[in-house]
Amino acid sequence: MTEKFDVKLEGKTFFPDPSLREHMRMGDYELAYNEFLKDPEAYWEKVAEELTWINKWDKICEWDHPHARWFINSKLNITQNCLDRHVQSGKKNKVALIWVGEGGEEKILTYRQLHREVMRFAAGLKSLGVKKGDAVCIYMPLVPEQIIVALACARIGAIHSIVFAGFGTRALNSRIRDSAAKIVVTADATIRRGKRVELKAIVEEAVVNAPSVDKIVVLRRTKPPMELYSEIEVDYYDVLKDVSECEAEVMDAEDPLFILYTSGTTGPAKGIVHTCAGYMVGTYYTTQNVFDLRDNDVFWCTADPGWITGHSYIIYGPLLAGGTILITESTPDYPDPGVWWNIIDDFDVTIFYTAPTAIRMFMRMGEDWPRKYDLSSLRILGSVGETLNPETFEWYYRVIGKERCPILDTWWQTETGMHMITTLAGQPMKPGFVGKPLPGVVADVVDNNGDPVPPGKGGFLVIKEPWPSMMRTVRNNEERYRQYWSTIGKYYTAGDLAVKDDDGYIMILGRSDDVLIVAGHNIGSAEVESALVSNEAVAEAAVIGKPDPLKGEIIKAFIILRKGYSPSDKLRSELIYHVRMSLGPIAMPSEVEFVESLPKTRSGKIMRRVLRAKELGMDPGDVSTLEE
Ligand code: WT7
Repeated sequence: MTEKFDVKLEGKTFFPDPSLREHMRMGDYELAYNEFLKDPEAYWEKVAEELTWINKWDKICEWDHPHARWFINSKLNITQNCLDRHVQSGKKNKVALIWVGEGGEEKILTYRQLHREVMRFAAGLKSLGVKKGDAVCIYMPLVPEQIIVALACARIGAIHSIVFAGFGTRALNSRIRDSAAKIVVTADATIRRGKRVELKAIVEEAVVNAPSVDKIVVLRRTKPPMELYSEIEVDYYDVLKDVSECEAEVMDAEDPLFILYTSGTTGPAKGIVHTCAGYMVGTYYTTQNVFDLRDNDVFWCTADPGWITGHSYIIYGPLLAGGTILITESTPDYPDPGVWWNIIDDFDVTIFYTAPTAIRMFMRMGEDWPRKYDLSSLRILGSVGETLNPETFEWYYRVIGKERCPILDTWWQTETGMHMITTLAGQPMKPGFVGKPLPGVVADVVDNNGDPVPPGKGGFLVIKEPWPSMMRTVRNNEERYRQYWSTIGKYYTAGDLAVKDDDGYIMILGRSDDVLIVAGHNIGSAEVESALVSNEAVAEAAVIGKPDPLKGEIIKAFIILRKGYSPSDKLRSELIYHVRMSLGPIAMPSEVEFVESLPKTRSGKIMRRVLRAKELGMDPGDVSTLEE
């Protein structure tokens, strides 16, 4: 692959209200970044000092490429910081968790109640024979118990492996086996779009061939209670112990906290391993400084705890920061596309964190839905997971944020554990760009040799120095872990292509596997897709490369049209012309196909590899992460 290519960078800049900077914890980016550069270890130490430790560290970081250890020899338990710390400091009756069911049911847990429920289940896990270091697989719907079980594992030092409940038998089976889970915690069913989706039945099949599993704990939500057949199945409520205390296990900084299998737009799933201290410090730091979480905020991250976004910014970050989190089992468009806006209105949500795929869906439904609700409680909007196309950014900013709320487009990965690149609230926002590396993160765009490329030239996104919440290994695949740190010099290779502008703002061009090489030029799939989405007729776009004897590859675009537009040859030519005008002739799609839907991972990422395989009549490979 050629390592440098030109990218067109002009676009709008949005300047937020200058007073915003004064109110934010990290209003002055330069100041904070310079403080970090002056003494990186002291910078992280100051963050860690804000948390509770059983024993403090001897040293902040030991870097033995590609292995880092953080907060060496410290002892802690992350749940003491998520729960006990707040219960003991006057937040006993503060709401920790609000749950909204699909039918509008509500459950609210204060910090005291959440603390108690976690200890009760933790004691129950112990009574089932679960010990520090054992793996527990959590395959549950988005209900409070899903979070309680994860925290209960952390309480006793068991390693949780949360598997998103949308996955099927094969994906679940391979994750249970790879993690050697001793217990699987599930529920009878999840409710999706008014329909019951059986979960326990999937678990029953998935534990065949999984000899590590001793027990299946079943949360029976629906009446009449589903029957439990074999002796390995136990009821959730029978496991709960009536205890008022379950001591937090003393964990070493580098003991594993959890395994999480990546969503895998490319290749088979990898079991990413995160450890206790560094992950705690990283997620706490970013929740405080990126989301600027305050005592009276209601924080809603629409992910599922089955993804890293849910681990870091539903469970751990916000609870470490003592916030109020909102979760819902409801899908964004059932019973109508107003449900989410209704929830924001009802609960006065102040910080809203979602994915571009959801925003694009709302754009397609029209502005009338959000207009029906009072969204004035919102103060910060976030996005994660994919490129937030400029068009989508502007809609989010105008229709949801009423040109008042800063938009944080956060770039990070399962592997990084925490936000790495974003535009902090109060800084000028450039739609299409994620922004600059956070203080604490040394990121750059480089060529194959690891040399920085000048502004306007595309290259590989790398992280040059270790950070506290970096993954420590890939479960059962240390070789794969090493690859991350040895593909481009000695840097961490994110697998994404990117470009910087003159101000150091970074634009993500897409996964390096999704890059198209047309007539010797590299073109990021994200760029062409953003150009297409900026056309008023287009709701969603995905582009792939098709081999071509002349050009190397030609571009084929798959398009979902917005309401009110229908496929035609005329529209096809218009779209091609539109890309030509925005990106130049080289990026022009040669083929355009109008489709009703696109293959996506269950976390909402477009699987271009599946489109490509289908187009070329090839085997799509592992599709276990594909949405139905
Ligand atoms: C990949 C990581 C981290 C939470 C969700 C996904 C893409 C992530 C952005 C963004 C453009 C983004 C990258 C990255 N990605 N955030 N703001 N703009 N692309 O976690 O499943 O580990 O995926 O998602 O390609 O490498 P993940």
